[in-house]
Amino acid sequence: MIDTKKTAGQTIVLAYSGGLDTSVAVAWLRETYGFEVVTCTGNLGSVKDLAGIQRKAIQSGAKKAIVHDARETFVRFFLWPALQAGALYEGRYPLATALGRPLLAKLLVDAAREEGARYVAHGSTGKGNDQVRFDLAVGALAPELTVIAPLRSGMHMTREDEIDYAKARGIPVPVTKKSPYSVDENLWGRSIEAGVLEDPWGAPPRDVFQWTVDPDEAPAKPKEIVIGFREGIPVTLDGAAGDGVPLIEKLNALGGKHGVGRIDQIENRLVGIKSREIYEAPAAVILHLAHRALEDMVLSKESHRSKARMADEYADLIYNGLWFSAHHQDLAAFVRSTQRFVTGEIRVRLHRGTAAVVGRRSEHSLYSTALATYGKGDTFDHQAAEGFIGVFGLPLRNQSRTQALWGPDSEATLAIPKTVMTRGRTATKRP
Ligand code: ARG
Repeated sequence: MIDTKKTAGQTIVLAYSGGLDTSVAVAWLRETYGFEVVTCTGNLGSVKDLAGIQRKAIQSGAKKAIVHDARETFVRFFLWPALQAGALYEGRYPLATALGRPLLAKLLVDAAREEGARYVAHGSTGKGNDQVRFDLAVGALAPELTVIAPLRSGMHMTREDEIDYAKARGIPVPVTKKSPYSVDENLWGRSIEAGVLEDPWGAPPRDVFQWTVDPDEAPAKPKEIVIGFREGIPVTLDGAAGDGVPLIEKLNALGGKHGVGRIDQIENRLVGIKSREIYEAPAAVILHLAHRALEDMVLSKESHRSKARMADEYADLIYNGLWFSAHHQDLAAFVRSTQRFVTGEIRVRLHRGTAAVVGRRSEHSLYSTALATYGKGDTFDHQAAEGFIGVFGLPLRNQSRTQALWGPDSEATLAIPKTVMTRGRTATKRP
């Protein structure tokens, strides 16, 4: 338990979204622990009105409200490395929320140092992954800080309680109706959970989606785009060079218009719960697809295999809140090295909910038409194939001679018994 004698008059920096939960938390931290509250808000792509958020923080009782436009940092130090790593949690989730938390935690820690605060706070509940990500990131960056999560410990209020609490203190209460879902969003995607989505059999209702149209209602005509990469980082769209933030924004809009980027997933949370999540992540889905297609062309088979195994580990690490770990730095060094030749262009076709690679080219391509062709100009040594197969198949022939694994009397798994073979047999003879 926290000793209020120690906290009275101390500064706490609160990760502030501007929503009702964290606005109430400002007042609650003051009243419960006697803290002076400084709020810290980072725009990772979804915060439209930073000045408005600042005003609201002050109205809620904060002594100071810090805001950052952290979008470029987010793209350069979080999204691009995750893209290069091929990090998709359990094969699909591009990790938008999970990538945002360590950066928000870093902003929080920096603010705490500037303010000379020994406490930080965040608005995560006790049931999700986000609390873990905040706590671990703060612990890794500044183990001397104490983390308080009011919604997890102490500030147990229903939404109605929160509204009453806010009204009584002149804290602005949202005029819009509360979304029936829990939503988190940034440049890399929108994460939607709770409400009717908790029934895993129920198809997500229309109102879940805000970035993507229903694939049925997307244009009948496909749209083709070309994405250019330099060393694994997207740098051009249809030949025009652009910075990361606008490039991602454009792809989100384009993909969304064609119904691309919807993900409906049952995932394993770190806290041991399986949960049903809906994601909208058009840019992330398109970019992962294109990046992988380019790697298919330029990475050796071995690099490709190692990298695929590493990708799962990398995704787990991000999901589990271990961004600021030594292991991450080691994995990132491997990934960085693999990206030396990941330069080239990928053609992607967007059509009614799907994104498909239809063309690729690279100055470092390992694909050789002369070797691959079945037509004229073939340089592959067909004769040499015979010798290769002779050696590659040697152990199989050797084992067959001594162990007869697949013979008619074998009881080995998958061996087909003679009775089965004769049952389906027919034969005709030349008259
Ligand atoms: N399940 C996702 C994750 O753990 C998304 C969490 C979304 N958070 C939220 N407050 N809605 O990364």
